Amino acid sequence: MPENQDVIKTHFAKVVDKYAEWAVFQAGNVCKDIRWFMPSPGETLLDVCCGPGTLSFAASPLVLESIGIDLVSEMIEKANELKEEQQVKNAKFVVGNAEKMPFKDGQFDLVVCANAFHHLSHPEKVLEEMMRVCRRGGKVGVIDIFAPPDEDQRKQFDEIEMARDESHGHSLDEHEYHELFLHAGLKDIRDWKADYRVNLTTWAGIAGLQMNSDVYRRLKSLLLESGVAAGFDPQDESNGDVSILRRNLYISGLKA
Ligand SMILES: C[S@@+](CC[C@H](N)C(=O)[O-])C[C@H]1O[C@@H](n2cnc3c(N)ncnc32)[C@H](O)[C@@H]1O
Repeated sequence: MPENQDVIKTHFAKVVDKYAEWAVFQAGNVCKDIRWFMPSPGETLLDVCCGPGTLSFAASPLVLESIGIDLVSEMIEKANELKEEQQVKNAKFVVGNAEKMPFKDGQFDLVVCANAFHHLSHPEKVLEEMMRVCRRGGKVGVIDIFAPPDEDQRKQFDEIEMARDESHGHSLDEHEYHELFLHAGLKDIRDWKADYRVNLTTWAGIAGLQMNSDVYRRLKSLLLESGVAAGFDPQDESNGDVSILRRNLYISGLKA
């Protein structure tokens, strides 16, 4: 099994409930996320690295059907539990590796991966696989955090991300995402960036960190030391918490 996948499995099996709580809370924003890819009612969506299925659920009123795939069986169980709770009829979930997916060539109209590329040891392999299962003329897209372009700042960025979640692999910067999409042969590439702020306690909590644990304290001190340079813009809150800036890149292209 490639490098990071054991760590990913252990991490996400441990935080599945916390992660799903946050994802359900974020559902309104995820609806906006999926709309950026302009899904159509007759289309089929593949939600790559689907976690608890948030993107699939947001897309369910907008598409014919969706399939979510994730490496972690606990995430897929959670997605199926939420599917029952929310009575979603047109979403399915399967356990599998995004590097080699059990789908036919050209099976989907829209193939999107949200919040997961930074975990991947081989993002180019996953993008290639996303292209394979997308039909000609269909859309392939990624939503994810992205690194600052400067090499030192990127190291600090990845160090902070790793301090929070050891399954964080490596973040690409905006230019590298474009190169990756171009190299994969995608056409009409377009992107958009969206910023939001989150409190450190919430952000750390989703990753399973207890406030005032040693790991939490290390994360906080790293953020206060190098968070400005790494683009997190840490700000003291009146309640003693710290708020940080998160920047997401949305990028999509058409399969020619
Ligand atoms: C931060 S979560 C994002 C989940 C969901 N896409 C969302 O936006 O809420 C990252 C997910 O990627 C999954 N993942 C990481 N590497 C994977 C791989 N190679 N194949 C399939 N899933 C993977 C993890 O199991 C985890 O559920």
